[in-house]
Amino acid sequence: MKSLLFSALLASAPFAAATELTVYKSPTCGCCGDWIEHMQAQGFHTHAEHPQDLAAVKAGLHIGPQYRSCHSAVSEAGFVFEGHVPARYVQQFLAAPPAGAIGLSVPAMPVGSPGMEMGDKFMPYQVLLLTQDGKAEVYASVTGPQDQ
Ligand code: CU
Ligand code: CU
Repeated sequence: MKSLLFSALLASAPFAAATELTVYKSPTCGCCGDWIEHMQAQGFHTHAEHPQDLAAVKAGLHIGPQYRSCHSAVSEAGFVFEGHVPARYVQQFLAAPPAGAIGLSVPAMPVGSPGMEMGDKFMPYQVLLLTQDGKAEVYASVTGPQDQ
């Protein structure tokens, strides 16, 4: 049964199924674990790391303080996905990484984003495209649960 499901995932989402993410987080972060489950459900493979100094890891990944969230995920190719980014945008980004981009970020932790579910509550938020020059632009506006 498990292998059948895996084959179905492979057939429908070849990029996602092949993607491995290293997730840097605090060992006690509950919402990070919930986001990891969301990503795994969408076919990503994940590997968690619990560094002593998370802020130093984020600085090393060139994520500006205003773009930071609880966890940082890094793809095999070195792209970074900061915070509760929905899997669909990670897949969309990895399928066609925009020139000059280092990854995506959902700063802070918007209520209702993947891993931040609180009943029916939903706070609209933006997925930001982080660029090599340390800036960001809007990659997607998430106005409701249907957008993620
Ligand atoms: Cu979080
Ligand atoms: Cu997290």
